[in-house]
Amino acid sequence: MKIIKAKNAGFCFGVRKAVEAVYEYVESNSNQVYTLGPIIHNDDVVKHLEKKGVEIVSEEEIPKLTNGLVFIRSHGVGKKVYETLNANHQIEWKDLTCPFVKRIHDIVLEYDEKGYTIFIVGKATHPEVIGINGWCKQHGIIIENESDLDQIQGVNQACIVAQTTFSSEKWNVLIKIIQNKINKLEIFNTICHTTSERQFEAKEIAAESDITYVIGGKKSSNTRKLFEVCCGKCERTFAIENANDIEHIGKYNSDLKIGIVAGASTPDWIIEEVLDKMSTLEETNKESVVEQQEEVVEEAKTEQVQDEIVEDVEMSMEDLEKSMVTLHRGLVTTGTILKITDDEVIVNLGYKSDGVLPIDDVYADKDKNPKDELSVGDEIDVKIIEVNDGNGNVRLSRRDIEANKVWTMLQQAMDEKKEFQVVCQEVVKGGVVTFIEGCRVFVPASQLAMHFVRNLNSFENKELRVRIIELDRRKKRVIGSQRVILEEEHAQVVEDVFEKAQPGEKISGEVKRLTDFGAFVDIGGLDGLIHVSDLSWGRVKHPSDVLKPGDAVEVIVLKADKENEKISLSLKDTIPHPWANIEDKYPVGEVVEGTVARITGFGAFVSLEPGVDGLVHISQVADKRIEKVEDVLKIGDVVKPKVISVDPETKKISLSIRATIPKPERMERTEKSERPARAQQPKRAPKARPVKSKMAKEIERYASDELTNSLGDSIHADALEELRKRLSE
Ligand code: F3S
Repeated sequence: MKIIKAKNAGFCFGVRKAVEAVYEYVESNSNQVYTLGPIIHNDDVVKHLEKKGVEIVSEEEIPKLTNGLVFIRSHGVGKKVYETLNANHQIEWKDLTCPFVKRIHDIVLEYDEKGYTIFIVGKATHPEVIGINGWCKQHGIIIENESDLDQIQGVNQACIVAQTTFSSEKWNVLIKIIQNKINKLEIFNTICHTTSERQFEAKEIAAESDITYVIGGKKSSNTRKLFEVCCGKCERTFAIENANDIEHIGKYNSDLKIGIVAGASTPDWIIEEVLDKMSTLEETNKESVVEQQEEVVEEAKTEQVQDEIVEDVEMSMEDLEKSMVTLHRGLVTTGTILKITDDEVIVNLGYKSDGVLPIDDVYADKDKNPKDELSVGDEIDVKIIEVNDGNGNVRLSRRDIEANKVWTMLQQAMDEKKEFQVVCQEVVKGGVVTFIEGCRVFVPASQLAMHFVRNLNSFENKELRVRIIELDRRKKRVIGSQRVILEEEHAQVVEDVFEKAQPGEKISGEVKRLTDFGAFVDIGGLDGLIHVSDLSWGRVKHPSDVLKPGDAVEVIVLKADKENEKISLSLKDTIPHPWANIEDKYPVGEVVEGTVARITGFGAFVSLEPGVDGLVHISQVADKRIEKVEDVLKIGDVVKPKVISVDPETKKISLSIRATIPKPERMERTEKSERPARAQQPKRAPKARPVKSKMAKEIERYASDELTNSLGDSIHADALEELRKRLSE
């Protein structure tokens, strides 16, 4: 006896997920568990779950539930059921609707909202069809046979979907008719390829088997369909629910080939039990077996109008074969996205089965979320990893395709000198690592900045601007550089700055930092220096006396050295020289205001404005003779002297406080000084004067270079003359 078991026997993708989810929950939770209707059309599984405490409830019973978790089975339910579940706050619920069915719900909801009439091709009493109809407020027109098409009258625009287990052949026939009745028809062939593929395989197995067993629940529509298909190819086809059903069939000849196929709702353990049972059977009376088989076939014929159905199915299979795309492992093809879930992307490949693309296999770049990037209906390139992943689905991947695209993109980016904004992910020996579209890019320390980088850790998690400078796909090596970008930008800045920074030009900038010797000013990406002596026409002790960082300034370019990227600036040159028009500003005889800036032995220097000091000679400080200037003035005093003389050439201004004192006071003092008593005093013999009096020393110092070198410090001739006169007295 040779047993040929179908590869796709047992649970389909949607059913497996649902059943496993219920078992997993029951095993790990003590909560009461309910299923909304039997979880699958298989009594053995349902009974097994019942023993574990899982109860079946109807939609009407939901509001009465006081605790526990309700599972929605893979057939799906209408929109209103979700509302009923949400309204009962004492229970939880979990949706196990098959993604393929959920897709139909989405289509129906969308087109119902758009005002389309909804046609649902399927069996009106099937839970899946009832659920689908619940997404168009139960207004859908259910079509199972051609006779139902009479309902179509006065429909302008319609959307048509199919129950996932509906016959492809019947679908094609119905669509042809409906197309002729409605102008605007949106057709969605939602028949599940899993079903078609199982039927196709079942047909092949039945064709080469002497006896074929179709294992599955009697209520399961897809099991019934498999039975129909197999009957068309193998006369001795038996529908069994479990191992017990083969008891009456008897024992077989060892030469027999026995085909085993199973419906999408048949669990693996029931198939295993059947296989075990068969292996214990011994050769027996062939005649009696054949007799019994014929009985079963006859029963099937009676129930399902066998001849017509087999014919239908065969035609359907032929159509399916013709329309099917051929796939093989490694093939890169394009599909259309049917569904995106948290775990996978379902892709229609035009093949008998849909492709399943794991969500983490969509992009090489882990930062990309397929749910954000992709939508249902998008076309997507995929690679076939396995034509059948064991659940009847095509296993897909995009990683290699993505990687190829990324390498091509990187090569193009390098050729075009494209810049990427990235984040430094990791600091490694000799540089840092970042990723572009999921591809590792190494940036050496020397390529991070224009200057030497001592502390690489300072780049961790920081943004980088990177350009690809080296690419070796064979070695999977990509080298990036931020430095090349910075250098190019700097070169452009230098060009721009030196173009406008011509000597004599006035430009604007912002004070960046101060040092003892001057202020650095940003003049468009490059810093120029205002030397401390060029900050003001007056005396400046420190640049901070005039400027502070952040100040916006206008400056005059003194010197521009492009080769060494040095620019000398002047702030004081932005205003006229204080000695220009000095005679107009300080006319002789005018009383002016100033501040005592310095005091010397021969007088006080009064600052009239930055860069312009006038001298109040000691003889002009008061209207009487004074010993020291400090007896009358101190530094910082604000005084209002009269201008006595102005010499623009030697930059000297003589001032007099004495001249501002009203004359009567002076006269009174003069009279006192000429009192007769003093004249009558006996004349004392003149004392011998020291060789060099204090006054003489002062004159020497006064006339020395030390005092006459700098602006404002110079003493004018009449002051010198005055001193000499006093000495001779
Ligand atoms: Fe889903 Fe297809 Fe199974 S629609 S439940 S995978 S038969």
